[in-house]
This record gives sequence, C-alpha cells and structure tokens, in this order.
Amino acid sequence: MSPFWSAFVIVISVAMMIACLWLLFANAKGVPGQTGEHVWDDDLREYNNPLPRWWLNLFVLTVLFAAGYLAFYPGLGNLSGRLGWTSRGQMEADLARITASRYAAFKALDGKSIPELAQDPAALSLGRAVFMANCAGCHGADARGAIGFPNLTDGDWKFGGTPEAIVASISHGRTAVMPPLNGTLSAQELQDLIDFVPFWSDDTLPVRKREAGLKQFAARCSGCHGADGRGLTALGSPNLTDDIWLYGGGREKVRQAILFGRSGQMPAHEQLLDADEIRVVAAWVYGQSTHDGAAR
Ligand code: HEC
Ligand code: HEC
Repeated sequence: MSPFWSAFVIVISVAMMIACLWLLFANAKGVPGQTGEHVWDDDLREYNNPLPRWWLNLFVLTVLFAAGYLAFYPGLGNLSGRLGWTSRGQMEADLARITASRYAAFKALDGKSIPELAQDPAALSLGRAVFMANCAGCHGADARGAIGFPNLTDGDWKFGGTPEAIVASISHGRTAVMPPLNGTLSAQELQDLIDFVPFWSDDTLPVRKREAGLKQFAARCSGCHGADGRGLTALGSPNLTDDIWLYGGGREKVRQAILFGRSGQMPAHEQLLDADEIRVVAAWVYGQSTHDGAAR
C-alpha cells in the first residue's frame, strides 16, 4: 500500500472506533421517566431510558478488542503490529514443518532397493499418494488402466517390468508408434491378418487360417512385434499372442490398428517429480504388478 492509502486507512479506522465510542456514550444516559414526543394508539409513549449496561459493555469490549487486535496484528494500513506476525511468515513456518517431516519420511527409506520398498508399508503409502496425484488420471485409481492407457497391475509390460524399466518409463516417458499400414497390403492380406491376430491364443483356430496369418505376420509385423509375436520392449510393441489388449481385441480393433496405426504416449515425469517421489511411486507400481512383491 502506498503511504497515502496507508495513512488513509489508519485515519479512517481510528476515527471509526472513536466515533463508535462517542455514539455509545452520547446515547448511554437517557433521562429516566421522561417520555418522548411520539404517541401511538392514544396512549402508547416512547420512554427515554438509558441503554442496558451489559449491552453497552459488550459494545465497549468489541471496540477494545479491535484496538488490541490492531495493536498486535497487522491491520492498520502498513503498520505490522507488535507481534510481527504475517500470513506469509505463517505459511513459511508451515511449509518448513511439512518439508522437514517429508524429508524425514524419505530419509528413512534411503538405501532401500525398489523391491524392498515395495514391501515397506511406509514407502507404499507415500508411493500410493504420488500415484493418486500424478498417475491415476490416466492409469486409473487402481492402476488397472483403460483403453489406450496400460494396466500396470497385470504383469504384462510393453517396456519391461523390472524396477529399472519402470523407473525409466516414469522418468523419461515412453512413446510407442505403430505406423498406419493402409495402402501397403491387399484386401486379402489384411483379411488373413485380422482372421488370425485376434485369435492367436485360440487353439481352435483352423490351421489354414493360422498359416495364412502367420505368413503375413512374418512379412509385415514381426520386425516390430517379434518373430513370435510377443512384442519387443525396445519399441514398446505389445505382445499380440496373449489376451491382453491395450486398445481392445477382436477383428475390428486389430483392423483399425493395422490400417490407421496406434500411438501411445506416456509423459516424462522427471521434471514433475523428484527422485524420491519417482522411487516410491515406482515401488508402488512394482508392488501392484507383482502382488506379493516377488519379481516375475
Ligand atoms: C514399425 C513397427 C510396427 C509394425 C511394422 C507393426 N506394429 Fe503393431 N504396434 C507397434 C507398436 C509400437 C504398438 C504399440 C502402440 C501403442 O502402444 O500405442 C503396436 C500396436 C499394435 C496393436 C495394438 C495392440 C493392443 O494391445 O491393443 C496391434 C493389434 C498391432 N500392433 C498389430 C500389428 C500388426 C497385425 C502388424 C502387421 C501388419 C503390425 N502391428 C505392425 C509397432 C508396429
Ligand atoms: C497423460 C496420461 C499419463 C500419465 C499422467 C501417466 N501415464 Fe503412464 N502411460 C501412459 C500411456 C498412454 C502409456 C503407454 C504408452 C505407450 O503406449 O507407449 C503409459 C505407460 C506407462 C508405463 C509402461 C507400461 C508398460 O507396459 O511398459 C508405466 C510403468 C507407467 N506408464 C507408469 C506411470 C506412472 C507411475 C505415472 C505417474 C507418475 C504415469 N504413468 C503417468 C499415460 C500416462
């Protein structure tokens, strides 16, 4: 506040308090027994009685309270008050307390490996909190994912489920790109693929269809999805032989993947989270996927 407005506020506030007191005392006396001029209904008259003592005292107390408050706390223009209290100072003290307790919480976890942290209830509760705040929006509150957002609890990993791979996924993010292949294959070739890929794990699939599909797969897809169709962690290409589908299974979804491509992006979190937070959230995710904390 500029000095002018500060002085303005001080003068107005003090003047208002004095005016309140004056008003109270000027009206405190009254003249007992005397009636005013107003008459209603022939004989109803207004008496000029003093204000009740308790009521008056209450008002004086509030004015004194205001004066005391303004003497000790900031409020009168730019004056800081005798206690030197500020809301910023209060916030900084709170922040320092929270930082210290957070530091102590993470300090206790120093030197533990991620599989060890995944067994540690204190680390898991910190990790879960980080997950809820930063990851649940995409991967779901239970980490089971949704269409386009991988389930992190099923033990099926595109980029690897080791502690190192999980930390790398979180820190640097991941981008998986399957290019659109529309126009590069004939209608029959496409049909052979979509009659086979969604049913890879289905033993009842006719041998003829399996062979036709595998032939196309070897020519067009195995470079990225692996000769056995189980995916390559270096590319983040999914295993197509299990029944876990990031974008949904069935002929139509596979047709869309082939014709139009797929591209999922996991954003990098190294700028958003500090190393301690990444460690505990990785441990929580690791624990979710292994359930008993044992490596798979
Ligand atoms: C250039 C590498 C590349 C080629 C070639 C490729 N893919 Fe992919 N494919 C990927 C990647 C990477 C993903 C994962 C995309 C993502 O996670 O967003 C993927 C995803 C898919 C999916 C989605 C799987 C799911 O879980 O929903 C299907 C289906 C698929 N590919 C089938 C095929 C078929 C069939 C072919 C051959 C015609 C093929 N892909 C060729 C890299 C490739
Ligand atoms: C904006 C949405 C989004 C947010 C936020 C997000 N993720 Fe992801 N995450 C994805 C997508 C999409 C993929 C799959 C990327 C792909 O297809 O290549 C992924 C992939 C992953 C993977 C690799 C999965 C695998 O199969 O290898 C891990 C691990 C992971 N996320 C953990 C996390 C954690 C932990 C957080 C929070 C710190 C987080 N993610 C926040 C969207 C997100």
